[in-house]
Amino acid sequence: MHGFADDNTSLAELERLVHDYTAERMRFDPPPLDRALTPAQLQEQAGQTITAEGLGGRRAMDLFAEVLAPACLSVDHPRYLSFIPCAPTEAAALFDLVVGASSIYAGSWLEGSGAVYAENQALRWICDLVGLPESAGGVFVPGGTIGNLSALVAARTEARRTAAAGQRPFRVATTRGAHSSIQSACDVMDAELSTVEPDERGRLTGERLREVLLAHGPETYFAVVATAGTTNFGIIDDLASVAEVCREFGIWFHVDGAYGGAGLAAPSVRELYAGIEQCDSFIVDPHKWLFAPFDCCALVYRDPAAARNAHTQRAGYLDVLTEAPDWNPTDYSVGLTRRARGLPFWFSLATHGTQAYTRAVEMTLEVAAFAEAEIARREGFELVGERFLSVVVFRREGWSAQDYAAWSDRVLDEGFAFIVPTVHEGETLARFAIVNPQTTTEDIAAILDSMV
Ligand SMILES: Cc1ncc(COP(=O)(O)O)c(C=O)c1O
Repeated sequence: MHGFADDNTSLAELERLVHDYTAERMRFDPPPLDRALTPAQLQEQAGQTITAEGLGGRRAMDLFAEVLAPACLSVDHPRYLSFIPCAPTEAAALFDLVVGASSIYAGSWLEGSGAVYAENQALRWICDLVGLPESAGGVFVPGGTIGNLSALVAARTEARRTAAAGQRPFRVATTRGAHSSIQSACDVMDAELSTVEPDERGRLTGERLREVLLAHGPETYFAVVATAGTTNFGIIDDLASVAEVCREFGIWFHVDGAYGGAGLAAPSVRELYAGIEQCDSFIVDPHKWLFAPFDCCALVYRDPAAARNAHTQRAGYLDVLTEAPDWNPTDYSVGLTRRARGLPFWFSLATHGTQAYTRAVEMTLEVAAFAEAEIARREGFELVGERFLSVVVFRREGWSAQDYAAWSDRVLDEGFAFIVPTVHEGETLARFAIVNPQTTTEDIAAILDSMV
């Protein structure tokens, strides 16, 4: 099977099929938006794909290209502005093929030192953006959810190691705009989440945080989670005042920058992150606004030893790894086996240089500023909340939830755009998340024109 000899498709032909498909997909400008099919439609069009004899590579590839891929939305389409999109550079997307072809185990230095070295340089760039010391470090994990969970597990282990006798800190504090993965991490950890009321700009502040900590007893907390770019609005918490309160009470300060952390690369908004350099842990998803393909979250710690303490798995068959003084990425997160998922990001960063990243993030911010100005200027449109980064939320005056849904369905049906509404304080609203440098001001104007 590994020589493909009993397959009707030779290795050379498989290579050509994959190459041709990839080349064509990469050259679409823009790629077709595509749309979901129902299970019945897929059953009818693709049928049973797993058979005792195998379909052969050509037939399987045709099925993917003609039926399965068109039933998956192109998240890199310039008018895909829902949730948080993903717009990999060509270099990053292509290098994903190389990672797959290279059979690298990137959990340990022994097995994947070259990959780990490169990933660590990419992580170092992120640490520099945050302002973390040379001793900081971490690992690329699948996504923000696992990144947040891993950081909170490290925080709790550290808090319990240093807690006064008889104390077992079990609480986490955050604010309403925090991502749902924080609640999920607390559920997994059987920890209790305290929600701090945000200020009038929607931010977690030190002052309000202090009140909540004092009300419950600061010694019951093992972490505070601030968000640098909330998912729904892009709000950046008041990191400096939150850091100060965390320091005052000796509580681990985690910053979730899964979406908004990329803005650290943009001088025009850098000051919004003041105080971030004091964090104990930080995440950013390069698969969101740093132009890497799924799935890629950078998780970094000020003190990697605290994370190792929490995450290193021990077993006789692992002694050869755990007893070595090497940097083993798997020691810094939940999970053991890992692919070198940071390499596509590394390759693109190495290819283009960090200045290109700065320019690309700034470009998306400019398009977001254009969207904000257009919405403010147009009659019948009204901005909701303050724009911090590249998320813009607005109201189409007079529209009901059904109107937003009907418009969203229509523009997707037309293959024009994918923009799902959001809900804020019970009200359905329109929301743009702009992380794709291919999204133009003309795209934004055309989408607003379509909201009739
Ligand atoms: C602020 C924030 N944190 C965490 C996450 C979760 O990241 P992932 O979907 O990669 O698990 C998201 C996802 O949108 C996010 O915006």
